[in-house]
Amino acid sequence: MRVLLAGGAGYIGSHTAVSLIEAGHEVVIVDNYDNSCPEAIARVEALTNIQIPHYEVDVKDKAALDAVFKKEPVDCVIHFAGLKAVGESVEKPVAYYRNNIDTTLTLLEVMKENHVNQIVFSSSATVYGAENASPLYETMKKGTCTNPYGWTKWMMEQILSDAAYADKDLSVILLRYFNPIGAHPSGTIGEDPQGIPNNLMPYVSQTAIGKRECLTVFGGDYDTPDGTCLRDYIHVCDLAEGHVKAVEYAQTRKGVDIINLGTGTPYSVLDIVHAFEKANNLKLNYKIGPRREGDLAVCFSNADKAKEVLGWQAKRNLEDMCRDSWNWQKQNPNGYKK
Ligand code: NAD
Ligand code: UFG
Repeated sequence: MRVLLAGGAGYIGSHTAVSLIEAGHEVVIVDNYDNSCPEAIARVEALTNIQIPHYEVDVKDKAALDAVFKKEPVDCVIHFAGLKAVGESVEKPVAYYRNNIDTTLTLLEVMKENHVNQIVFSSSATVYGAENASPLYETMKKGTCTNPYGWTKWMMEQILSDAAYADKDLSVILLRYFNPIGAHPSGTIGEDPQGIPNNLMPYVSQTAIGKRECLTVFGGDYDTPDGTCLRDYIHVCDLAEGHVKAVEYAQTRKGVDIINLGTGTPYSVLDIVHAFEKANNLKLNYKIGPRREGDLAVCFSNADKAKEVLGWQAKRNLEDMCRDSWNWQKQNPNGYKK
């Protein structure tokens, strides 16, 4: 298949490009480099030994997107393009709604006009809200989000579902990611956050390399075995392979399907700290601090549906995730910047 990756230069998109190519598919990348850079694509090309057609295009720009669809016919789209920082979305809600909703609407319009009927969408466990208790099943009713970023995912799921209801040719797969961490084992592509990282693993690796003085564990008094929050961390290469299965599955059916991509195994923040220390034979400077507003105590998937429907399950363990995150950080202390 030929797959267009909207936002394909980003963290998950770049790993997915590698997995798709390894599985024998072709990829085309469209990205405005709002949170990424062309160097990520160059590294994917070096890893796979394949030249990837790529375009600096804002997915909201309908004419520019249409021109890419005309020039590069594709069978399927994976929609990664979005702004994703939870805290920033509270500060700049309009920018988040504008970018995330508009990219989705524009993609749907351009897909229809170019007779592309399959879309795989990057959704998030955040749409389950606080109302649902883990393990989280795809059959649960969506919950209430605590921030504009989460609401954009919630709304984009609704938009895509309504589009598929109206257009019986459309195949929509809503992938609900849990917590992607890790990097390609080569250490040449990985997560490259701008400024101070919001997410746990980049903060851990930047602390280990000395860019941050100390990791603050947000809350030690949750109702969990060690008092710190539980999450479902998944290796980004497992997640990428899940996308390969999802685009292949999208071809075989119509309508909407929702699939969790997680491991189904929760780990605490302190589990991550200790696993990182052990896997990489180092000591992390950390302290327990106050809770972060909006954090749920527990969030993990039931991962059965992905296994049944996609024939996919995560293969890599926490040690792999910690080793590969550190390998990327060590080889690229400043991310993709030289
Ligand atoms: P990322 O920021 O690394 O990748 C997103 C990419 O989209 C970036 O390359 C960015 O430049 C691009 N982009 C943003 N707006 C665009 C636009 N208007 N036009 C063209 N390109 C645009 O993030 P990621 O971690 O790779 O996440 C990919 C998707 O998965 C996002 O939609 C994110 O919300 C979702 N998601 C991520 C996580 C996570 O923890 N990383 C969890 C759940 C869901
Ligand atoms: N944490 C710390 N210290 C830090 C950073 C994080 O203790 O410096 C803790 C958090 O409190 C949380 C855990 O580490 O308990 C994971 O936090 P992340 O910020 O890495 O991830 P979240 O689970 O908060 O958020 C992720 C995605 C969001 C998505 C959300 C719900 O990053 O995009 O899952 O699906 F909305």
